[in-house]
Amino acid sequence: MAKIQKFTCVNDVPNLQQALQECLEIKENTLATPDFGKNKTVGLVFLNPSLRTRISMQKACQNLGLNFIIINAGQDAWTWELHDGAVMDGITVEHIKDAAKVLSEYCDVIALRCFPAFKDKEEDAQDKVLKQFIEHASVPIISLESATRHPLQSFTDMLTIKENWKEERKPKIVLTWAPHIKSIAHSVSNSFCEWVKEIDADVVVTHPEGYNLPTEFTDGLEIVHDQQEALKDADFVYVKNWSSYSDYGATPEVKEDWMLTLDKLKATNNAKIMHCLPVRRNVEISDEVLDSENSLIYQQAGNRLITAQWVLKNIL
Ligand code: CP
Repeated sequence: MAKIQKFTCVNDVPNLQQALQECLEIKENTLATPDFGKNKTVGLVFLNPSLRTRISMQKACQNLGLNFIIINAGQDAWTWELHDGAVMDGITVEHIKDAAKVLSEYCDVIALRCFPAFKDKEEDAQDKVLKQFIEHASVPIISLESATRHPLQSFTDMLTIKENWKEERKPKIVLTWAPHIKSIAHSVSNSFCEWVKEIDADVVVTHPEGYNLPTEFTDGLEIVHDQQEALKDADFVYVKNWSSYSDYGATPEVKEDWMLTLDKLKATNNAKIMHCLPVRRNVEISDEVLDSENSLIYQQAGNRLITAQWVLKNIL
């Protein structure tokens, strides 16, 4: 296994195919190295809610014999100031660079979840919170989803696709936009585009006009605005909502029905259905699709443990 310095995007994994193979080996016995992390500590820092990421990281630590400390920033820690040079006479109590340096005194690796604030497009695009941790911490950093990417999710998605594709030919993978009731970040979709380019697949991204993703992630991928046309002969359909990127965070009205239903899936090659969860049932995807035998949603969630173990084993 090659050691990695940080885990924030696909480029941090030196050889994805090898990494996926190693994940399959980890999955055969997740308890194979119970003393691997003896006397080492992982800091799990959450600025935002989580179910899968939080629990899979905790369980991965337990399986590897690692200690972990959970910090729910904003609740368990002082409110952090994010801006360099700020005069801290307002509600922020501790600068993020001080927090990063202090946590480095206690932890051998720090894992951080920091969603976009959706206030300033450029600030979110620069991933300022994650970057400040990378800059100021003296230990390796794992992204548990940042303003721009969700690398652990995408790594897991590639593993789940690998497990479910045994044919010689390339699979057709469709990333489809789905409706939602509020403005949702681009990180899962961005990351999915970034990682899926690294596997051997034909990829189509489909979304309504006005819901473009950042071009740095979609460059080289086919974009189709007709969902039914995109779904034709698909082997995998990955469903996700996101807000507009050009009109940052906006949710322009969509007149057509983009919820994924069994009827729409008739055009596919008996496609497997993927979603990172949490999912808004009967808004993004119908119950009958989510609960069908083609649904991979729980396998994806389970695989979060496997990729978390791979990252911890390779970063420590
Ligand atoms: N998919 C995912 O990251 O789930 P959580 O937000 O619950 O961690």
